[in-house]
Amino acid sequence: MATKNETASTGREVLSLAAERAIKYANGVRQRRVAPGAPDLQALEKFRETFPEGPSDAESVIAMLDEFGSPATVATTGGRYFGYVIGGVLPAAMGANWLAGAWDQNAALRAMSPIAAELEDVVLRWICEALNLPADCEGGLVTCATAANFTALAAARYALLKKAGWDVAEDGMFGAPPIQVVVGAEVHASALKALSLAGFGKRRVTSVESDGQGRMRADKLPKLSERAIVCIQAGNVNSGSFDPAAEICRRAQEQGAWVHVDGAFGLWAGVSPRYRHLTDGFELADSWATDAHKWPNVNYDSGIVLVRDGSALRAAMTLSAAYLAPGTRREPMHHTPEASRRARGVELWAGLKSLGRSGLCELIERTCLLAKKFERGLLAAGFQILNEVVINQVLVSFGDDAITREVISRIQEDGTCWCGGTEWKGRTAMRISVSSWATTEADVDRSLEAMVRIARARGV
Ligand SMILES: Cc1ncc(COP(=O)(O)O)c(C=O)c1O
Repeated sequence: MATKNETASTGREVLSLAAERAIKYANGVRQRRVAPGAPDLQALEKFRETFPEGPSDAESVIAMLDEFGSPATVATTGGRYFGYVIGGVLPAAMGANWLAGAWDQNAALRAMSPIAAELEDVVLRWICEALNLPADCEGGLVTCATAANFTALAAARYALLKKAGWDVAEDGMFGAPPIQVVVGAEVHASALKALSLAGFGKRRVTSVESDGQGRMRADKLPKLSERAIVCIQAGNVNSGSFDPAAEICRRAQEQGAWVHVDGAFGLWAGVSPRYRHLTDGFELADSWATDAHKWPNVNYDSGIVLVRDGSALRAAMTLSAAYLAPGTRREPMHHTPEASRRARGVELWAGLKSLGRSGLCELIERTCLLAKKFERGLLAAGFQILNEVVINQVLVSFGDDAITREVISRIQEDGTCWCGGTEWKGRTAMRISVSSWATTEADVDRSLEAMVRIARARGV
C-alpha cells in the first residue's frame, strides 16, 4: 500500500478525478448546446476572486474548473461547430495530450527530452510527405499559423538580406536594404500581423488584385527582384480557394524572389487524390505555414513552419551558437522563436499516427462532402451561396447584410450549431467551415434544420 506521502506525490486522486470529469465532458459534448448559455457565462463570476491567501487542495481546484469552466466552453469538439476553421480533437491526440501532460517535457533541446525531439523529427518528415513538399525541408513546431508565418518570414528576411550582404540577425532592420513584400488582396490578417512582427509593416506591402474567388492574379504580379517576398495562400479562409501557385512561383523564382505559402488549413487538401490538384505548384515555394489544429484535428496548439533552405531557418532562429550549442542532430529550439516550450509534437504524432494517410484523406474528403451538403441544403431553401465550394468552406447570405447579421446572431444564440460572420466581396455572409472529424451527416441535417427554421422565423 502506498503511504500517504507517496499517494500525494503521484496525485492519483486528482488525476483520476480529472480523467473522470474529462471523459464525462467528452462524452456529453455532442449533446449539449454549442455556445454556452447565459447562465453558464454568468457563473464565470465564480473565478473573479482576489489571489487566494492560502492553498486549495488539488481535487477541489479541478472540481471548480469543471463545475464552472466546462459549461462555459464552446463545444468545438462536438460535431456542430462550424466557426472560424476550428478542428475537433482526435481521441488519440487527446489521450496523448494527457500522457504528455504527465511527462511535462521541455522540447527545447534533445537533451531535455529525447522523445520530444524524436517525435518532431518524425512528424516533420511525415508532414512533408503528406503535403507533397520537398523531403529535405527543415521545420519547427510553433503555436499557430500566425507564428509559423512569422517564423518563415524571419527566415526569408535573413536569406534575402544575407544575399544583399546584410546580416539581419546581427545588424537588425534599421538601415538594411529594403525588401519588397507582395501579398494578394485577400491575404489573411494573420500574415499581415506576421509581416508587421517581422519588421516589414502592414502598410508597406504591395497588394495584388484577386479574382472573384479571392485567388491572387498571377498576371497582375509586379516586377520582382532578389529582394522580394511573395506571400501566397493555399486555402482562402472565406472561399477556400487556392492561389495559382505554379504560375506565381515560376514568375517569382525567375526573378529571384522568395515565395511564402500561408497554408493554414488548405495545404492539407493535398493528401487527397480528389483535391490534390488544388495544391499543385505549392511545393515549388520556399517556405510554408500550416496548422494541425485545424483540418487534421490535432489539439491546440499545433502550428508548423517548413522552410526549404533549412540553414536560413536556423540562422534566423538560433538562440546563440555559444549558448547550449546544438549537437549533430536537429535541436528543436533552433527552429522556432521559443526556447522552452511544451512538447507539442507528441499530440501531433499521435493524431497523425492514428489516422495514417488513408484516415487523413478520409477526414479531408468527408468534411468537403459535408460542406457540399450544406451548400445543397441552403440553396434548396432559397438562400444564396457566395463562393464556389471547392473544399470545406461555405459562404451563405440570407438576404441583405442586416438580415444576414441578424440570422447569424440568432443561430449562435439558438445553440444547435455555431457559425461566424464574415465580409466577402463587400457583402456580409455566414461562413460555415466543416473541419471536425466528429461532424456527421446527421449533424449537418440538424444544423441545416436550425438555420432554415431561424431564417424563416426572421421572415426570410
Ligand atoms: C489562411 C489562414 N492563415 C492563418 C490563419 C491563422 O491561424 P492561427 O489562428 O492558427 O494563427 C488562419 C485561420 O483561420 C487562416 O485561415
